[in-house]
Amino acid sequence: MEGNSPQIVSSQQGMHTRLAAIVQRHCAQAWRAPLHAPTEAQFKRWSATRNAVRSLVVDLGCGHGDSTLQLAEHHVDAELLGIDQSADRLGRLAPQGYANHGRVTLMRAEAATLLRLLAAARIAIDVLYVLYPNPWPKPEHLMRRWHGHPVFPVLLANARRVVLRTNWRIYADEFVRAAQLLGRTGAVQTLADDAATLTPFERKYRASGHARFEAVIVDA
Ligand SMILES: C[S@@+](CC[C@H](N)C(=O)[O-])C[C@H]1O[C@@H](n2cnc3c(N)ncnc32)[C@H](O)[C@@H]1O
Repeated sequence: MEGNSPQIVSSQQGMHTRLAAIVQRHCAQAWRAPLHAPTEAQFKRWSATRNAVRSLVVDLGCGHGDSTLQLAEHHVDAELLGIDQSADRLGRLAPQGYANHGRVTLMRAEAATLLRLLAAARIAIDVLYVLYPNPWPKPEHLMRRWHGHPVFPVLLANARRVVLRTNWRIYADEFVRAAQLLGRTGAVQTLADDAATLTPFERKYRASGHARFEAVIVDA
């Protein structure tokens, strides 16, 4: 699989024309969809045992969880939480859907519910990593991208810093624009070809010669 990933193809050639309208709509109305019950149980388990003194770093959609373990080396004083909805992907490092590896907890959970639970419990995220999210490149799938999703205002308000990586420039540009619409500061940079990789998807894209983009959102 390494080295033969196809480039993202989309009929969308620039930022989505409805981006601002969608983000503003989600900002104006709190999202009230029911919470995902298994994620509530996972959150309860984690919050009962977490170290509240350490700052929190979250790896959203962590896949197999190797990236979360790697991120722990960059954030030596933090507690890390890697979450993914896929039992299959987490099977090696969190075989029962939940595992502790020192300061790192890996758990099976649905991301939007987890973000809402963290915010409701006033557990702020110091750095939120969103590494190679599914791009949803069809224009009609804008609301499946994290910045077009109704949880985006919560995601942003509860994270001091957000780092997103993607191989689709438009995704990164939209993410920053959406954050700016909500009063945050952000920028996109193209990573150098030899820049270190953080995840298996990133390694695959680098081996396939794709450009890699990093969007960083900070306080305004
Ligand atoms: C393209 S993969 C990237 C995995 C990993 N971050 C990497 O770069 O290798 C996207 C991951 O996000 C997870 N994911 C997508 N939507 C999710 C959601 N709503 N809640 C939790 N995980 C989700 C998928 O299961 C998948 O593992």
